[in-house]
Amino acid sequence: MKDIFNVIHNRRSVREYTGEQLKDEEIEKILNAGIMAPTAKAEEPWYFTVIQNKELLKKINETSLELMKNSGDKLLESIANSRRNILHNAPTVIVVSGYEKASHMEADCSAAIENMLLAAEGLNIGSCWIGLIASYFKDEKNVASLKIPKGYVPLYGISFGYKANDNQENPKRNNDVVNWIR
Ligand SMILES: Cc1cc2nc3c(=O)[nH]c(=O)nc-3n(C[C@H](O)[C@H](O)[C@H](O)COP(=O)(O)O)c2cc1C
Repeated sequence: MKDIFNVIHNRRSVREYTGEQLKDEEIEKILNAGIMAPTAKAEEPWYFTVIQNKELLKKINETSLELMKNSGDKLLESIANSRRNILHNAPTVIVVSGYEKASHMEADCSAAIENMLLAAEGLNIGSCWIGLIASYFKDEKNVASLKIPKGYVPLYGISFGYKANDNQENPKRNNDVVNWIR
């Protein structure tokens, strides 16, 4: 078992996978790490959709790129024009949805996502938080394809797969963001 500080420092967004599908036990461990995250008022306001269906993954990518291309947002348009796969061709994508009436839906779901990213790194599995999938969620018809329970809204995706390469070097972080008041 890896040391937690080692996992935190070595986790990087992984955008290239071998293509081999993960084992169900590995995904279950990652999901369990997600549901152990802290939540405001212990509401646990989340729902996880594990997508491994290749047709649906292809549809999510292509539909998102199309919507991004016509979004009027210069950055989204340039990503769409590069035709890069927004899901990084991952064999597994988990969509994290939040219960819309919860008090801190987005904070709670983000805590779950970070737990899952760290759990994946602990298993030496690559992962990447996918905000770009939001384009896909803008259309109700697309959301219906995810079969999310009533009252929940999809927030983010996370791509998972075995790493195609070793982790990149730790990037420089700005450490000048702390004030101690004693
Ligand atoms: C809310 C959020 C949305 C993100 N969306 C994307 C995305 O759509 N595609 C992607 O490749 N990376 C995405 N990332 C990953 C960031 O680009 C990445 O965390 C950042 O560049 C720092 O790199 P690191 O994760 O390797 O430390 C997202 C991260 C967060 C927190």
